[in-house]
Amino acid sequence: MNKQLLPKFHITGEKGWINDPNGLVVFQGEYHAFFQYYPHDVKWGPMHWGHVKSRDLITWETLPVALRPDEQDGGCFSGSAIVWQEKLWLMYTSFNENEGGESIRQLQALASSADGVTFEKHGIVIGEEDLPSEYCPWDFRDPSVFRRGDTFYCVTAARKRGAGGRLLLFSSPDLFRWTFCCDLFDRDCDGSMTECPSWSDELNLLLFSEQFRPHEGGKYCNVHSCLYQFGTLENAGFVPSEEEDILDYGFDIYATQIFSGAPVMMGWLSMWDRSDPLAKFGFAGQLTLPRVLSVKNGKLRQKPVYRAEEVRKEENVSSLFDTLVTGAIKVEAENLSAFSIKLRKKGNSFASFALVENEWIFDRSQAGEKIEGVEKDEDSLAGIRRMPKENTQKTEIEIVSDKYSLEIFVNGISLTSVVCPEEDADGVELSLTAEKSTYTKYLVK
Ligand code: FRU
Repeated sequence: MNKQLLPKFHITGEKGWINDPNGLVVFQGEYHAFFQYYPHDVKWGPMHWGHVKSRDLITWETLPVALRPDEQDGGCFSGSAIVWQEKLWLMYTSFNENEGGESIRQLQALASSADGVTFEKHGIVIGEEDLPSEYCPWDFRDPSVFRRGDTFYCVTAARKRGAGGRLLLFSSPDLFRWTFCCDLFDRDCDGSMTECPSWSDELNLLLFSEQFRPHEGGKYCNVHSCLYQFGTLENAGFVPSEEEDILDYGFDIYATQIFSGAPVMMGWLSMWDRSDPLAKFGFAGQLTLPRVLSVKNGKLRQKPVYRAEEVRKEENVSSLFDTLVTGAIKVEAENLSAFSIKLRKKGNSFASFALVENEWIFDRSQAGEKIEGVEKDEDSLAGIRRMPKENTQKTEIEIVSDKYSLEIFVNGISLTSVVCPEEDADGVELSLTAEKSTYTKYLVK
């Protein structure tokens, strides 16, 4: 594996395959991130939990694999973490394929660590006998654990027999003995299955992913989608305070999770059922940057965390040329009426992001290697994603570029995508019309 080929400042498995972030937690003053990991190939395989930690969410240290398949777990599927009695506890899904189909078992298991490096497995703690019989033990996964006073709670994805995706709530006095509380929404999700719930009591925020969620206007254009919803989570069910909404308008983000102990989120910067242009470099999958979460005008806002040096600042430009591969561009504008930027440009190859009437349009159709998906709608085939324009006097556009990704934020609403241009495709071309504007460029070195 040539490390030069890895992204500059995004978490990967360094070799092999990764998918969902798991067990995001603050433990002994450090941020720990785990992820679904198959170290032996650039495709999904028996799941391990890869592990990294950081003091600042910027520089990450790779730690030994935390969980691996064994006699108990055919695979260690997604889950979450919590700190209790000075230990770091992981709750994950123990996956066993058995004979396949309805003989598959996905049950919730526990592991713990005193040092945050070596984990001891404690076996299955939410077994088939704890799951009410109307739910399928073969589609029961991704526990999100949290604590209120003396009681632990855990939200899991599940499927009702003969029906669709659900989210279930369980409670426990000690992380080992769990009792079913309720089916959170008591209705099928709009997609075919719910995955990766993540609940934050601090933010009153529920994140979840849905497989095959149907399109709805310009939303949910990917085969699988990430959603969020504000509300309160009670023993009897979820009480929403806002409508659920799409979490990101880009091509490539899934299985987002909030840190236990900090209002920060990460997601898998990729998507199921897509070709992967990075696999040829010896690794597949990366995580999004950590993003600090907040709420404004009822919408979830995200602020990416990275360290970069300011290298250029311009006031009130209407057009400019620049270069950028790893770093960020920020444009702050008042009464913005036109905006267009080309990124990673080399000859006729570039990705673009532009304001067209009342929409932001991202286009990666010319951005180097083609990425093929199973989506057959016009926009997807044309390499396009759209995001509605908010009517605000001030607009802040922040574009974070790494070797193989563009994470775009407009007033904190995100559009995240993989791109795979040539390594030296670094041109930037900007044009904009606004009453007042500032352009700033930052480099990640
Ligand atoms: C979501 C997911 C989870 C599962 C994991 C397996 O991407 O399908 O539901 O736990 O991936 O790797």
